[in-house]
Amino acid sequence: MEEQQNWKETLRQMLNDDLIQMTLSGSKDADRAGKVKIRPVLLKGELMFQETLYRGTQVFHKNFTTQEMFPRLTEYMEILFRQAQIQGTDYEAVILVSRKGKVTVKKKKAAMESGNTPKRQQTLSHNRTKKYILPEGEPVDFLVGLGVQTPDGKVISAKYDKFRQINRYLEFVEDVLDKLPKDRRIRIIDFGCGKSYLTFALYYYLHQIQGREISVTGLDLKEDVILHCNRLAEELHYDQLHFEQGDINGYKGTDAVDMVVSLHACDTATDYALEKA
Ligand SMILES: C[S@@+](CC[C@H](N)C(=O)[O-])C[C@H]1O[C@@H](n2cnc3c(N)ncnc32)[C@H](O)[C@@H]1O
Repeated sequence: MEEQQNWKETLRQMLNDDLIQMTLSGSKDADRAGKVKIRPVLLKGELMFQETLYRGTQVFHKNFTTQEMFPRLTEYMEILFRQAQIQGTDYEAVILVSRKGKVTVKKKKAAMESGNTPKRQQTLSHNRTKKYILPEGEPVDFLVGLGVQTPDGKVISAKYDKFRQINRYLEFVEDVLDKLPKDRRIRIIDFGCGKSYLTFALYYYLHQIQGREISVTGLDLKEDVILHCNRLAEELHYDQLHFEQGDINGYKGTDAVDMVVSLHACDTATDYALEKA
């Protein structure tokens, strides 16, 4: 491995789409973060960096531009983490921080597979074809809580269709992002939320990933599912996500919202939801 002279410049150069993943570990403050992973993602054609921050049992996703990611990353290495493992399409690198705070970066070319294709190039193109908003293999608290993922992020095979449906749904939400207010809290109601996979996904995507201020209410006739959903929202600290038991027909809970959701609502529920919306 070759030692790089200027660690910040080396890091800055690694923030492009040749990066596969950085894993920052050896935390000095587990209350802030135990581990952080960073990977490139394409959002509406723009290269962004998705940060996955692990704190205790909680996982937070946030996207940053290169300009935002670089100072954040250098601060992480200066203050919070002792090491980073970096995989690129044709290189691998390691960053180590000494007890005295000296940062060193060592980098080497990645081994080639037979057929002269760097191993990680194949991995990256594979990731790109999938391009799920919530990627496989990365645990998301509500997906674990609802039994779609195992705690280490594996999608439970019987829930694979649900996992795909959630991701597809989030793509629809992504398409209307620009239409939602940016200067104030977004108010959303989900009529006939049922078990609320999609309600939790909506909250997670808009609040945790996009950083929007939102308040979401899920409404359903079934008392037991409402109890269960409220309990899970509380456990996950989804403070602005609440569930109410009630009938869409004649619902008086709120008179102004920015978005009404009603998915797969049965019988006359869709008609009531449209009328109410
Ligand atoms: C098929 S589930 C859909 C759940 C969820 N929206 C989804 O897409 O995964 C339909 C839900 O609508 C609820 N529902 C039906 N009529 C309703 C009404 N009038 N008021 C409130 N909820 C109603 C049912 O209790 C059921 O949980």
